[in-house]
Amino acid sequence: MSSLDHEQVLIRTGTRSGLPIIVAVHSTALGQAVGGCRLWHYADWRDGLDDALRLSAAMTAKCAVAGLANGGGKTVVAVPPGIEPDPALRRAVLDDVADTITALDGAYATGPDVGTTPADMAVIGERTPHVFCKPAQHGGSGDSSPATALGTLAALRAVRRRLHGTRTLAGARLSVVGLGSVGLRLARLLADEGADLLLSDIDPAKRAASDELGATWVSPEQALTADVDIVVPAALGGVLTEEIVPRLRCAAVVGPANNQLATEAAGDLLHRRGIVWVPDYVASAGGVVNALTVELHKGTPDEARERVEAIEHTVADLLATAEHRHVTPAQAATELAQRRLTGAW
Ligand code: PHE
Repeated sequence: MSSLDHEQVLIRTGTRSGLPIIVAVHSTALGQAVGGCRLWHYADWRDGLDDALRLSAAMTAKCAVAGLANGGGKTVVAVPPGIEPDPALRRAVLDDVADTITALDGAYATGPDVGTTPADMAVIGERTPHVFCKPAQHGGSGDSSPATALGTLAALRAVRRRLHGTRTLAGARLSVVGLGSVGLRLARLLADEGADLLLSDIDPAKRAASDELGATWVSPEQALTADVDIVVPAALGGVLTEEIVPRLRCAAVVGPANNQLATEAAGDLLHRRGIVWVPDYVASAGGVVNALTVELHKGTPDEARERVEAIEHTVADLLATAEHRHVTPAQAATELAQRRLTGAW
């Protein structure tokens, strides 16, 4: 049995919604724990708990490596199969989430994640101040996906330089797996720069957007195993399984999806195959960096953008450290996070 390395986990049946509300506070060593609120279907609420535990630990590492004075947490609302929240149930869920955050007394602040929006953050914000990314008219920094996409682009530049000695993505062959709010924005940025794109999503309706960008539309599995320079996972986690990694034909995997590795062994396998993997929590930090820079540190949009673009240097440093010390970029990132968490900045 593995040990619990979280400071606290609060699991409640929402008093209004009747749904399982799970808030995992992984660490407040560097400051208030932050992490988005995921509203998603799970066959069993315990699967939602697993997700909350993993995602909150990743937020701790994300904040530490990004140089933020915050810890990691995550909220998961585990919606049972067959229930499609209507506006009334959604409202009830968000009120329940807000009360659960209030019960944590400032240890944790939330933000948007898969299944929630800035408008949802405004609803949560009616009951608690511990919420980021409310729409601008409610005093927040709004949608975090443009910054997440920009941060991923910065990570891609560092990897591109490493592979081909240039930081432009023009002419690079990339496949993007998942065209959600971050994936589609990123695909647009890449198309604007002249990248050669394969795009995919489980939702066939996304094909129109792909066609508009002049990209080649493929299935998610084809996108993952395509003969390209870089595969960009931009959907839900767990895509890098021990079955899929041996079939990859890319030189690197870099994307904004959280929890990309299905197992630790899949990570080792990537390394043995000589495929560069930038940890998801490093590549996806743009959203939280932007929100915290603007809302906590009162930075200007330009300052926030600069901090998001600095992910390029973070990734370049990690790749250089990894090579120098004969470790994987993932190990280099873990060690950096560890150093920061133990006060050795
Ligand atoms: N979904 C964001 C992430 O995984 C979470 C977040 C964004 C939290 C912005 C707070 C502010 O990083």
